[in-house]
Amino acid sequence: MAFAITIALLVIGSVIFHAWSPWWLTPIASNWDSIDTTIDITVWVTGFAFVVINLFLAYTVYKYRYSKKRRAEYDPENKKLEVWLTVITSVGIAALLAPGLFVWADFVNPPEDAHVVEVTGQQWQWAYRYPGADGKLGAADPGLITEANPFGMKGDDPAGRDDILVESAIMHLPVDKPVKVVLRSKDVLHDFAVAEFRVKMDMVPGAISYLWLTPTKTGTYDILCEELCGVGHFVMRGRVKVQEQADFDQWLASQNTYEDALALAKVDRANGQATYAMCAGCHGVQGEGNPALNAPQIAGLQDWYVTAQLEHFKTGIRGGNPADTYGAQMIGLAAALPDSQTIRNLSAYINSLPATQTKQTLSGNLKNGKELYDHNCSVCHGDNGRGVWSVHAPKLAGMDDWYLARQLRHFRDKVRGAHPEDDLGHQMQLMVSVLGDDEAINDVAVYISGLGYSDPSYVAASKTK
Ligand code: CUA
Repeated sequence: MAFAITIALLVIGSVIFHAWSPWWLTPIASNWDSIDTTIDITVWVTGFAFVVINLFLAYTVYKYRYSKKRRAEYDPENKKLEVWLTVITSVGIAALLAPGLFVWADFVNPPEDAHVVEVTGQQWQWAYRYPGADGKLGAADPGLITEANPFGMKGDDPAGRDDILVESAIMHLPVDKPVKVVLRSKDVLHDFAVAEFRVKMDMVPGAISYLWLTPTKTGTYDILCEELCGVGHFVMRGRVKVQEQADFDQWLASQNTYEDALALAKVDRANGQATYAMCAGCHGVQGEGNPALNAPQIAGLQDWYVTAQLEHFKTGIRGGNPADTYGAQMIGLAAALPDSQTIRNLSAYINSLPATQTKQTLSGNLKNGKELYDHNCSVCHGDNGRGVWSVHAPKLAGMDDWYLARQLRHFRDKVRGAHPEDDLGHQMQLMVSVLGDDEAINDVAVYISGLGYSDPSYVAASKTK
C-alpha cells in the first residue's frame, strides 16, 4: 500500500514540478519554431506514457497485493495483449520521431540565398571567418596553422585573400538574413550551441559540419560548447551579436582580412625601439622592470600578448576599473600609440629584449603553489610556464612574483577581465576562482616566478621569430 502511494505521489510531484519549474526554454530568436514544436510533442508523448504507466503500476501494486484467499495465475503468452502493446508503442514512437525527421530534413538544407560564416572551435576558444566580397571562403588546412596563420589559410587560394578573420569570442550576424554556419574544429570534439537559436551541432576535427538559421531578433546571445572537450570546457564561451544589416556591415568593414593580416605580419623593430623610449622610464631601458614604480619586467614577453594588452589598454578593455591604479596609467600611455602597426612594432621590440631573472619578493608554499599550477594554470600556460600561443596564454615563468600575485587578485576580485569584450580575461576570472585566498595566490605566484630560476632555457624558448 505504502509503495503504491509513493509511486502515485512521485507522478503527481513530477507533473507539478514540470508545470511550476522556473527552467523553461529561453525566448526564441530564430526561425526554428518547428524545433520547439518537436520538443513539445516529445514532452507530451513521454509525459503521457510516464503518467499512465506509473499510475497503472501503482494501481496493480495495490489491487493485486498479497492475499491468502488468492493464488497467482501463470500466463506466459497472451497474443491479444502483445498485439495491443506493440501497436500502441509503435504509434507512440512514430509520433515521437516522425515530426523530428521533417525538421531535420529542413535543418540540413540551407536556403540558396544563405550567406556563409565559418566558426572554428579549439580548446577553449571560438574564432570566426567571413567570406569577403566574393562570397566564398578560401581553402584552409589545420596542418598550416602557425602563430602567423592561426586559421590555417592556404596562401595560394585567391578566394581566401579577402576572407575576414575574426579572432574574438564575439560573432556578429545580421538580423533576418538566413545564414549557413560552417563548423570546424582544430583539435578535439566541440559543439556549437546557441539556446536562443535552438541550434546545436558537433564540430569534428578533420570534418566540416554545418547548420543554418535565420536570426529574428537583435540582441546578444551566449554561444556554449556542449561537448566535454577537456579541463577548460566550462570556460569555452562565446557570444553572438545579432545586428541590423547596416551595423553589421559597418562592423564587418572594420575587421582585418587575410590580406591585411599578411601585411601586418611584417614588423619594423627599429621603429619599435624608437617608440619604446616612452616605456623605458618605468619598465627600464632593457624592459627589466622597476618594482618601486610598480612596473613589471616585460622583456621577452611574447609579441602577440604585448600587442593584445596594449590594444586593450588603448580601448579601455583593460585598466578601466577604478581599483586598477597602475592599469589606469597604462591607458594614458597606450593612447599615445597611434595605430596597430606601431603597437606591433613595439611588441616585437619588447619581445627581442633579453628576459633576466626577477627577484623573489613574496613568501609562499612552493609545494602548494606547484600543485595549484599543475592542476589549473598549466593546462593553458604550459608545463613550465613558457606560455602557449595557440590558446593565447602568455609566458609566466620568471616574471615578477608581486606582479603575478596582483594580477591574480585583480582577476579574482573582477578588477581585471570584467569588460564585456575581454573574453580571455573572463576565462582567467573563472580559472582564478579556484585559487581562493591571498595565501594560495602568493603560493602560486612565487612558484610560477621561480619556474624561471630552475629552467634557464625558458628565455630562448619563449622567443618568437
Ligand atoms: Cu569545447 Cu567543450
